[in-house]
Amino acid sequence: MILGIDQGTTGSRAFIFDEQGKVVTSAYSEFEQFFPRPGRVEHDAAEIWDVTRKVCHEALQDAGIDGSGLTAIGITNQRETAVAWDGKTGEPLHRAIVWQDRRTAGRCDRLKAEGLEAMFRARTGLVLDAYFSGTKYEWMLKEGGVPQDALFGTIDAWLLFKLTGRHATDYSNASRTLLFNIRELAWDAELCETLGVPIGSLPEPVRNAEVLGETEEFGGKVPVAAMVGDQQGALYGQACQEPGLGKNTYGTGNFLLQNAGEGSPLLEQGLITTIAWGIGDRVDYALESSMFVTGAGIQWLRDGLQIIEAASETEELAGSLETNDGVYFVPALTGLGSPHWDPYARGTIVGLTRGSTRAHIARAALEAIAYQTVDAVRAQNTALGVRLKELRADGGATANAWLMQFQSDVLGVPVVIPEIADTTVLGAAYLAGVATGTWTEEDVKGLWAESRRYEPRMSDDQAQSLLADWRRALQRSGRWVIP
Ligand code: G3P
Repeated sequence: MILGIDQGTTGSRAFIFDEQGKVVTSAYSEFEQFFPRPGRVEHDAAEIWDVTRKVCHEALQDAGIDGSGLTAIGITNQRETAVAWDGKTGEPLHRAIVWQDRRTAGRCDRLKAEGLEAMFRARTGLVLDAYFSGTKYEWMLKEGGVPQDALFGTIDAWLLFKLTGRHATDYSNASRTLLFNIRELAWDAELCETLGVPIGSLPEPVRNAEVLGETEEFGGKVPVAAMVGDQQGALYGQACQEPGLGKNTYGTGNFLLQNAGEGSPLLEQGLITTIAWGIGDRVDYALESSMFVTGAGIQWLRDGLQIIEAASETEELAGSLETNDGVYFVPALTGLGSPHWDPYARGTIVGLTRGSTRAHIARAALEAIAYQTVDAVRAQNTALGVRLKELRADGGATANAWLMQFQSDVLGVPVVIPEIADTTVLGAAYLAGVATGTWTEEDVKGLWAESRRYEPRMSDDQAQSLLADWRRALQRSGRWVIP
């Protein structure tokens, strides 16, 4: 059996997979989100470790095994979230600054004004945006009181350190930091110097499928055999190992990735180029569109506005209306990601009347997930000069049949759901299985199976009219905060 750990933005999940890649047991727990000021999002890395460890023990217990029954552990994680800790005590030195945090937007503006964006983009494949980890590390050192001898890393590195004592990160996570040269597969001395981050404080970059160390946390000695950023993990779990295959994951945010093969070009249209994975001698790249707030918008309806008790209620609420009655919600709660890259955008609800109800807001939040995906797909179609034929979807919100049908309707192509919708963690488990000889890469492709398909039913005219109104709403949320 393989233990897959999915350390996400809103919660940690642990899964036990059998050798057919089927889920035997799973456990989940949310943890606290801190919003100390508008635009700031933080996590307590110590709590993340405690919650993650707890769900692993629960999943093992439910499966009736301990560590001695495991072949390997695979880790997948929320990416870009920056952690600083003391290498001797293993204690965090600052709250983790979450990928959604906008505090370094001004710093990114200044780097752009200095004409440095082209250099960062050419070497890292990224744009200069507060989303990525580099300026968060810099902020911790300059403003957050974190000492120069701290250890830094994204959540993969933090969990690996807690499990095995080793300070390492994988290529897919390293490629989200603005500090990693994605062609040379090494930390870039000039970029690190620009941001004042000591190279010695960064984890050793490693491939995605290899034994990184052993943990005694669960009884016996279990190899940690894979780490992969959650979106690249989902690309692998959706069996998108060939160039041109892609997937869209519906999580806290949505992330559309297409496999770009071994030599990925740098394309415009607001897209980023990222490392998909390094396995053996091969390194594959991916093109990505990152939509920051999708499921998090639904979470905000639950926890912020408190107009629903559970995310699943949105399906019935949306279906209770025949149309959206002109109500649109742009969930730019942490700015906008691709293709707009606007850290100063803020959430907007337009079109309200006295007849508007919580059903309108819930429907608008679901529609916004679908519209953002349409914008992402269009940007990728334009950049690549090919039209996507069908969308492979995964993640929690794929259980929402209303959303999936609406997605297919406004996109105008089929939406396909695999048997295991938790493909992020499945990807990590597959990579761990590949590293330890449970599966070959060919086996893994054969394990993917379709479970449901949504065909478009809406007329093109109707879809275009909805999208035109969405774009009008989008304009109103842009650059709302004056930098
Ligand atoms: O880049 C951020 C992404 O990795 C977050 O994933 O699981 O929180 O939606 P998730």
